[in-house]
Amino acid sequence: MDALARPEMFDFQGVSMTNIFTDNWENLQKFQARPDDILIATYPKAGTTWVSQILDLLWFGQTERQKTLPIHERVPFLELHILPDMSGTKQADTLPTSPRLIKTHLPVQFVPKSFWEQNCRVVYVARNAKDNMVSYFHFNRMNKLQPPAGDWDDFFQQFMKGKMVFGPWYDHVNGWWKKKQTYPKIHYMFYEDMIEDTGREIDNLCSFLGLSPSAEEKKMVLGGTQFDSMKKNQMANYSTIAEMDFTISPFMRKGKVGDWKNHFTVAQNEKFDEDYKQKMKDSTIQFRTEV
Ligand code: A3P
Repeated sequence: MDALARPEMFDFQGVSMTNIFTDNWENLQKFQARPDDILIATYPKAGTTWVSQILDLLWFGQTERQKTLPIHERVPFLELHILPDMSGTKQADTLPTSPRLIKTHLPVQFVPKSFWEQNCRVVYVARNAKDNMVSYFHFNRMNKLQPPAGDWDDFFQQFMKGKMVFGPWYDHVNGWWKKKQTYPKIHYMFYEDMIEDTGREIDNLCSFLGLSPSAEEKKMVLGGTQFDSMKKNQMANYSTIAEMDFTISPFMRKGKVGDWKNHFTVAQNEKFDEDYKQKMKDSTIQFRTEV
């Protein structure tokens, strides 16, 4: 695929999307969740792959599957539809594991209703807007399945306007946060907390899921999900995806809190903070931009 073939964003029911996430809409909305499914929901670049790898190791351990199947095959990306044979719903339907771990970036209002009807557990990961923006910028630079990133200042403006695939970060984190008030089976996590103390966050995740791993199992999960270990692991680092150009930026890029400081100018930071205050004024979520 050359640069010209990158998908274009368009307005889809009030949210910016690209065709690879809307082409399968009818099947997606009719998707049949099972009561033991675990939905991993995030805004893009908030730590989806990290929590997916943690959950996969917690449930299934270091098995042949882990060593031979890339993460996107172990944890299907529900709304992704490139060809009829490369479709998240189809992949999920044929997944042999139980429970099924299923990934989505959908804003909460787009989630197929069977997940709520079946009372499925949901793990949501949120990341502070500044680092999330930086990570998304580098992702769009390197991933030909995304619209072009443009230059940094342009991306910065578009992010604040919410012109990103899957819509505004602000609506996403708040929408899922509000859903949690009426649907308690959402475990709402923060990337910054995971960086601060991964072991503590895994313990909290286990309480939510009703899992009690042994000390040895926990050590194995912690070891297998450290940034450096995932960066080296071809089954977790997306190096098998041809559309991603790691010479531009690797998928496992930095894995830090606070990299925004290397990107935001002082003027951008002031502008961002002012705008953020307005957009988040009715929200009770507290994000940390450093740990
Ligand atoms: P950076 O671009 O800031 O490095 P997603 O999986 O939702 O696409 O998120 C990708 C981001 O999570 C990237 O952020 C990536 O480096 C980071 N990440 C992935 N695995 C991680 C890990 N084990 N520890 C810390 N960060 C991780």
